[in-house]
Amino acid sequence: MPVDFEKQSYWHERFKSETSFEWLASSETFMTIIAPHLSRLPSRESQPRILQLGSGTSDLQNHFRASGYLDVTNVDYEPLAIERGRQLEEAAFGEVRLKYVVADATQLGNDLPPGQRFDVVIDKSTVDAVSCGGTTTLLRMASGIRKYLADGGIWISLSYSSSRFDVEDLPFDVEVIAKILTPKLKESEPDIYHHCYLLRPK
Ligand SMILES: C[S@@+](CC[C@H](N)C(=O)[O-])C[C@H]1O[C@@H](n2cnc3c(N)ncnc32)[C@H](O)[C@@H]1O
Repeated sequence: MPVDFEKQSYWHERFKSETSFEWLASSETFMTIIAPHLSRLPSRESQPRILQLGSGTSDLQNHFRASGYLDVTNVDYEPLAIERGRQLEEAAFGEVRLKYVVADATQLGNDLPPGQRFDVVIDKSTVDAVSCGGTTTLLRMASGIRKYLADGGIWISLSYSSSRFDVEDLPFDVEVIAKILTPKLKESEPDIYHHCYLLRPK
């Protein structure tokens, strides 16, 4: 990825015109992978608390809502992404019921209430953008996520990289739960996969 992917200014320019885009996989494909893990979460009043980091112009939140998950907080540090997310939900359901918060995924403590906890944190390629800022930035995101996870909570992350979490001092155990074969232009091209990770606090 170009270096600018960790910069808010890049996303601001992009979202001026982009209203809908899915990174790495469609929300349908991603939901198929994560649904069994969502259904196993400890639930509070039967609603797991979901935090999506870097929601962008994806419609993933609509898939959560359509599946009956209503305690969903969508976070992005670019206000235009938050506006797009609300618009996508309103277009699909006629009104907005999910939560949308402008916040930096690498400094969660600044923008989310300190006592708040989530049963699952989801990021669909946001970790790739954040990692353009270097390992320290990725570790800051990871330690923030860990603080906001409830007991038994998990982080599910989709990345183009097969070594995304090969970093020292990561406060999570990492497991690959799915690999998504990327489309090929020619049959002779090698197989390339995106990786879906499940991370549990150490
Ligand atoms: C690669 S896009 C993924 C968007 C969406 N999840 C998808 O699958 O289409 C990365 C998103 O993360 C957001 N982002 C990047 N760094 C961030 C940060 N430090 N805090 C919050 N959001 C961030 C960008 O604004 C962008 O919306």
